[in-house]
Amino acid sequence: MKQSQAPGGRIDYIDTGQGVPFLWIHGFPLSSAVFESQLEIGGVRHIVPDLPGFGNSPHQPSLAIDDYAKRLLALLDDLGVDTAVVGGLSMGGYIALALARLEPRRLRALVLIDSREVPDTPEGRENRWKQIETVKNEGTTQLIEQMLPKMLSPRTLAAAGEESRKVRAIMESASKEGVMTALAAMAVRGDSSAALRDLDVPLLVTVGDEDTITSVEDAQRMQSLARIASIEIIPGAAHLSNLERPREFNQAVSGFLRRHGILSGEGR
Ligand code: MLT
Repeated sequence: MKQSQAPGGRIDYIDTGQGVPFLWIHGFPLSSAVFESQLEIGGVRHIVPDLPGFGNSPHQPSLAIDDYAKRLLALLDDLGVDTAVVGGLSMGGYIALALARLEPRRLRALVLIDSREVPDTPEGRENRWKQIETVKNEGTTQLIEQMLPKMLSPRTLAAAGEESRKVRAIMESASKEGVMTALAAMAVRGDSSAALRDLDVPLLVTVGDEDTITSVEDAQRMQSLARIASIEIIPGAAHLSNLERPREFNQAVSGFLRRHGILSGEGR
């Protein structure tokens, strides 16, 4: 992993491959490791940060969703990357949409993975404040136990193989402070529908057909808001569709990039 001292604080990131820059933004409470299988997509320079307080990146206090987006724009500046395909998984999608609103010019395309554009419901927000209290008093264990069954499909979880172990380890690498900051940021985030309506680059929406955190309806609604949009429903996958069904997911992404002339024929 590399380290960037971009304005705002240190961000650790993976920078690998050659080709069109692709910024991958992980979800909650995860890290860059959730995109390990996506690094196989050819013809792409994969830039995969750990958000502050997750994976190897140190915690930064009081970040709103826009602040995470600004940290990532600063990382791109630091790397001399002007425009990139931006892909965000769940909370990473919230951040990707903020980035699209703040600096639309920097996007070559947008990929939203098991995410949504709408803010939390009042109940959802209430639950975040409760989770913050629990994490503050008891650490992240309970949150991890609650979230793990929703990350992967029942079949994959029952097999108790490599995927379950990996997702648990990724969640355990999140710092308590990073988790509390992100929960508060997600609770107060706004509606990003306008960012989708205003998008003038291609959008790919992907969702696992067994995702219970975001739904196929969420994905279809996001597709319908953007002008140039396609959707890929990944069978047999829950919330982490890219990790659970990497072959199908990677084909969907590289096919999308090729269709829009962003990736030439040789990319897998
Ligand atoms: C995520 O995977 O990033 C979170 O589940 C998103 C959320 O809690 O809204």
